[in-house]
Amino acid sequence: MIKKFSAGLLLVIASSANATDDYSKELYELYCTACHAVAASGAPQSFTSEWEDRLDKGITTLVNNAINGIGNMPPMGTCAECSAEDLEDIILYMAQEQ
Ligand code: HEC
Repeated sequence: MIKKFSAGLLLVIASSANATDDYSKELYELYCTACHAVAASGAPQSFTSEWEDRLDKGITTLVNNAINGIGNMPPMGTCAECSAEDLEDIILYMAQEQ
């Protein structure tokens, strides 16, 4: 039993070392693409340079603004199940230029 638990723990540690885990990508797809992949929404578009100026504010500010909402963006970006850490992961993911 203990052995099983520690193996699971190792898995968790290993997966959090990835740049963006599948869970964060799933949350992004579910909640954020509605605006951040639709130019007409006015939201900074994922995987473009539109994030450059935003990132200059610092990740802590971006996470707080995502939690509280900003401009036309609703609080939590509609993802009620997201933690602050999830939001940070998602923001760093969609702010990458690809
Ligand atoms: C209903 C549309 C909508 C959804 C859904 C949405 N956003 Fe946004 N988001 C916006 C808009 C519009 C802006 C630009 C707001 C502004 O600066 O006036 C924005 C801006 C942001 C910013 C930049 C904040 C800043 O300080 O410049 C972050 C970070 C962000 N969104 C994260 C997210 C995340 C993470 C999700 C998914 C959990 C999400 N958004 C879902 C519309 C949305």
